[in-house]
Amino acid sequence: MPRSFLSHPSGWPALTMAPAWLWMLCLSVTQALLELQFVELHVEIPENYGGNFPLYLIKLPLPHEETEAQLILSGNVDREGPFAVDPESGFLLLTRPLDREEHAEYQLQVTLEFEDGRVLWGPQPVLVHVKDENDQVPHFSQAIYRVQLSQDTRPGVPFLFLEASDGDEPGTVNSDLRFQILNQAPAQPSPDMFQLDPQLGALSLKPKGSASQDHALEGSYQLWVQVKDMGDQDLGYQATAIIDVSVVESTWVPLDPVHILENLQVLYPHYIAQVHWSGGEVHYYLESQPPGPFDVDAEGRLSVTAELDRETQAEYLLQVRAQNPRGEDYTEPLELHVVVMDENDNAPVCPPQGPPISIPELSPPGTEVTRLMAEDMDAPGSPNSHIVYQLLNPEAETEAERALELDSTSGRVTLGTAPLLAGQNLLLQVLASDLGGAEGGLSSTCEVSVTVLDINDHAPQFTISQIEPVSLREDTEPSTLVATLTATDADLEPDFHLMNFAFEAGNAEGIFGLDWEPGSGQVHLRLLKKLSYDAAPSHKLVVVVQNVAELVGPGPGPEATTTVTVLVERVAPAPKLAQQLYKASVPISTPAGSLLLTIQPSGPPSSPLRFSLVNDSEGWLYIEEVSGKVHTARTLQGAHPGDTYTVLVKVQVADELSLSTSATIMINFLKASSAPGLILTPVPTRHLCTPRQDHGVVVSGPSKDPDLAGDQGLYSFALGPNPTVQRDWRLQTLNGSHAYLTLALHWVEPREHTIPVVVSHNTQKWQLQVRVIVCRCNVDGQCLRKVGHMKGMPTKLSAVGTLVGTLTVIGFLLILIFTHLSLSRKKNLDQPVDSVPLKAAV
Ligand SMILES: *[C@@H]1O[C@H](CO)[C@@H](O)[C@H](O)[C@H]1NC(C)=O
Ligand SMILES: *[C@@H]1O[C@H](CO)[C@@H](O)[C@H](O)[C@H]1NC(C)=O
Repeated sequence: MPRSFLSHPSGWPALTMAPAWLWMLCLSVTQALLELQFVELHVEIPENYGGNFPLYLIKLPLPHEETEAQLILSGNVDREGPFAVDPESGFLLLTRPLDREEHAEYQLQVTLEFEDGRVLWGPQPVLVHVKDENDQVPHFSQAIYRVQLSQDTRPGVPFLFLEASDGDEPGTVNSDLRFQILNQAPAQPSPDMFQLDPQLGALSLKPKGSASQDHALEGSYQLWVQVKDMGDQDLGYQATAIIDVSVVESTWVPLDPVHILENLQVLYPHYIAQVHWSGGEVHYYLESQPPGPFDVDAEGRLSVTAELDRETQAEYLLQVRAQNPRGEDYTEPLELHVVVMDENDNAPVCPPQGPPISIPELSPPGTEVTRLMAEDMDAPGSPNSHIVYQLLNPEAETEAERALELDSTSGRVTLGTAPLLAGQNLLLQVLASDLGGAEGGLSSTCEVSVTVLDINDHAPQFTISQIEPVSLREDTEPSTLVATLTATDADLEPDFHLMNFAFEAGNAEGIFGLDWEPGSGQVHLRLLKKLSYDAAPSHKLVVVVQNVAELVGPGPGPEATTTVTVLVERVAPAPKLAQQLYKASVPISTPAGSLLLTIQPSGPPSSPLRFSLVNDSEGWLYIEEVSGKVHTARTLQGAHPGDTYTVLVKVQVADELSLSTSATIMINFLKASSAPGLILTPVPTRHLCTPRQDHGVVVSGPSKDPDLAGDQGLYSFALGPNPTVQRDWRLQTLNGSHAYLTLALHWVEPREHTIPVVVSHNTQKWQLQVRVIVCRCNVDGQCLRKVGHMKGMPTKLSAVGTLVGTLTVIGFLLILIFTHLSLSRKKNLDQPVDSVPLKAAV
């Protein structure tokens, strides 16, 4: 035992230094703060100290100055001790031995106080630790242990735990206990059949030779055991006890399977089996595979704690273990097979209803449509899951004419004998019953929907086999729609309505084409090229229609073709002109009848043309109907120089007036010609007789124009272009300056006439208006102008007039006879009768 009792904490050298500056602080710093400055002092003292007392423990760092203050010791100690402070030396004293088991630690405080309680120094905390000495003897918890050992207990598994205690300081070697078997009685079949864990005190069978021990292990054994402190050292206190081990027969026997009805209506927990471990202290532990509502209580009663459902879990394997307090199995676990018995608590479940089952039309009877597989969750193979099927719907059908048949045991649905219609939807209602259809079973109504698929068994057909002949003109433009044909298809599926059209005959030259919108059932027959009557006056086109999709069944009939007859109409070509636009510049002084231009066909005309003016609103122009020559119809009165006058001309084919074209005439008016002015002497009014007599009127062209004196012979004369004038009058040129105008017809209406006469000189033209009075004449060629007044009763004046007139006529006749005689002589000499001037006749 070490004699040293003063142990210095590691901080001690620092403490010896501390008082000097601590004291300084005491003077200057407040008392409250001072308390914090005292570092706890540690003192360790062995218990049961056997030396002299008082034992000086530690010198307190008291202030050195003389004072009336007293040293006060406080803490978990009495005033009598075991501690004291020597006021002289300032040492902490121990007055008697200490017992650690009584008091292991003392918390002391030393203060220097005045009587009135003021603290001069301190409190100085001192911790006194009592160091343990092995002065306590270990104790078993019992003097005799009695324990039962079941025969099946595995070696090495503790079946008894010894307990012993030691009063010395825990955790030190003084209280470190070791167990040991000192003796076994009887020493049969071997002297060391048991083992005792030295530190834990756990008693178990020794593994060695355990197999041979099995049968021999019977009766009882007495073990003498020891417990000792000081750990593995030889020294130490010890105590002994007796263990009575009685070997008992194993009650850990296999269990029979347990059958439990599902949905069992009883009070839970419901006991189903019992186990028992006859050995020492036992804890039962239950495991369910898969986990289920099972439990075992401390007495080993197994129970089910809730209703079971076979459809969730039909079987369980329970394992029950017998375990020692440390959770170690004494032996192999017992197995219990739990079988859940079925109850018909599940109705047949229809298969999920998917999209309708498709069956092509024309499928033969007996074709399998589907197999109805209702499921029953109840125990397979038992009546609870034995399903039969029964057709509920359609009920109306007679047995002989069912569209669908059902096999009651297999659930097989087949086609019946009733014909199927494309697009038809059949809804089958089937009752699925368990218990094989017996009464009390559960059932569900399943539905099967079947759609009859269309197949392309109908060929497309034209609605009309032949359409009215179509007439087309030769000049019909390509891409013109000739006819629209319609075809139909009796199939339902849109894909089976898609058609192709083609010419079967009549379109070898590719003059016609077909186009169609897919799916519309309509095809357009169009002209692709120009028609020619000469090449073919008619076309007989045969159009055929076919499905795009492959046709099932009989091929297309005659309705798959249709005939279109196209008749070609001949068209004469429209007239063609050399120019579309004709222009002329004309002085506004241009006389009537002047030729302005000629509209001509291009190339040699195939057929005669007819020309006419469309909108000659001023009436200035005149066109010759056959030749296309354009003249001025009258003087251009009202036209202004610089103006443009536009007139449309219509040109028609004489044979086919509907064929026409047009041309435009643009006349540009110029200033009146200032070239040699011809002074037109107003021609005095003359008389001419009608019916025609041999008289005429001399029309003189230029008068005394000095400029023209040299070439007077260059004047030419013509009647104006007016057709009536041309019909009624005749103009003869006498010489370079005169012409002779006479009636062309035998009879011209008696009145005053104005006859246009066009006088030309080189390129210049003038128009003369010759005024002539046409009248009835007497035999002498005198104009009977007063005929109107001779009607009615004669007056006195008129009677006198008549008498005078008669006398005058007689005289005149005499003069006439003489004159006529002389004229006749002269006429016979050089002049025709017609050319005798009127002047001379008067
Ligand atoms: C005649 O018709 C053409 C074309 O429409 C036009 O340009 C022209 O001015 C017309 N002439 C008269 C005199 O109206
Ligand atoms: C032309 O004939 C007319 C009438 O006969 C006559 O008066 C005139 O002198 C003739 N002129 C010439 C140049 O012969």
